[in-house]
Amino acid sequence: MINIVLDVEDIRKDFPILNRIINGKKLIYFDNTATSQKPIQVINAIRDFYMNNNANIHRGLHTLSQEASEMYEEAHDVVARFIGAMGREELIFIRNASEALNLAAMILSDEVKPGDEIVVTIMEHHSNLLPWIFLARKNNAKIKIINIKSDYTLDYDALEKAINDKTKIVAITHMSNVLGTINDVKMISKIAHNYNAYVVVDGAQSVPHIPVNVRDLDIDFLAFSGHKMLGPTGIGALYCREDILNKANPFLLGGDMIKSVSCKITGECNIIWNDLPWKYEAGTPNIAGGIGFAEAVRYLARLGMENVKKHEEELLSYALKRINEELSDVMDTYGPSDPSRKGGIISFNIKDYDPHTVAMHLDSEGIAIRSGFHCAQPLHEHLGLMDGSARASFYIYNTKEEIDVFIEVLKKLVEGD
Ligand SMILES: Cc1ncc(COP(=O)(O)O)c(C=O)c1O
Repeated sequence: MINIVLDVEDIRKDFPILNRIINGKKLIYFDNTATSQKPIQVINAIRDFYMNNNANIHRGLHTLSQEASEMYEEAHDVVARFIGAMGREELIFIRNASEALNLAAMILSDEVKPGDEIVVTIMEHHSNLLPWIFLARKNNAKIKIINIKSDYTLDYDALEKAINDKTKIVAITHMSNVLGTINDVKMISKIAHNYNAYVVVDGAQSVPHIPVNVRDLDIDFLAFSGHKMLGPTGIGALYCREDILNKANPFLLGGDMIKSVSCKITGECNIIWNDLPWKYEAGTPNIAGGIGFAEAVRYLARLGMENVKKHEEELLSYALKRINEELSDVMDTYGPSDPSRKGGIISFNIKDYDPHTVAMHLDSEGIAIRSGFHCAQPLHEHLGLMDGSARASFYIYNTKEEIDVFIEVLKKLVEGD
């Protein structure tokens, strides 16, 4: 079986962990929605930085500090370009998508007045739900939750009806981490902007897997994590429109985020914020992480995000076809049936087995998947899945042969072998 869009054999050589033997079997890593594996190029970029360039940034005139500063700044440019931002001014490096969404809520906190409305969807990850619930409670605003239809796509009619003059924020996931559903963010943004509402997009699953361009989507915020897109943990990004960042106050205060602070002995102080994005990056940042993140983005850009999407679509079509043909009596899957409208994610349950048992069985055969609520408990409750679901998710290094093994192991489980 040949994967036509990506040279997967070649790609796999870059990922040392794929040689791991787990429980006597060659690792099959299908937990990419939780985090991706890392190519040698990213591992080396971090190692090389610590071996050759390590110093604090923006603080020293010495050569190493200059080098580290330039590498860290350039990393912002690389990631900014990848998502179509104007430049580093619009891209804040932060720990992960969760922290980025919390920062978005902080930035917008003064904009939300009593009686205002914040629109979210039932398919949100907790990271794009809790900050908005909390903000609404604090400011006496209202949360509106948009439902999904029976085909697991968003109810766009309900969304259109829900957005009105009171809407201040529409916070929506670009790709559901459970259903894989890809939401039409461009269209949603158009509706929201007609009412001058801010559009915050959770790109934790979309940015690693499909082409994303903030200008084309015309969105105000985009949050994503480096670790889900071949980069290291502890580094992610918040894209935000420059005019919003200029207007808002930073959340974290401290070193490197001001141009100057002067205080008189009377207690009168004057602060001038630093240029963007440093105004929002107080303290010593994750310098090596940022450099590793940029290397991950270079890797994905070399492959081409259209190709990444196509490859996953192909894997998804293949897996769904085999499931429908061979396991449909005992296996329920949740998500749109059209592979072009969803990411490479299959959430499922096997009749008479709880999802954790399924995951443990697969692990005993070297296959890593996730089980539980996947930080989307309201969605699972809404679907009546009180034990959660099992989830297999694909990335650039996965193959149809791995899907074959996955299907065979599931078949053996239900056959009681
Ligand atoms: C859709 C979605 N949003 C947000 C997050 C949070 O990402 P992180 O844990 O990197 O902050 C995840 C993680 O799984 C996710 O899938």
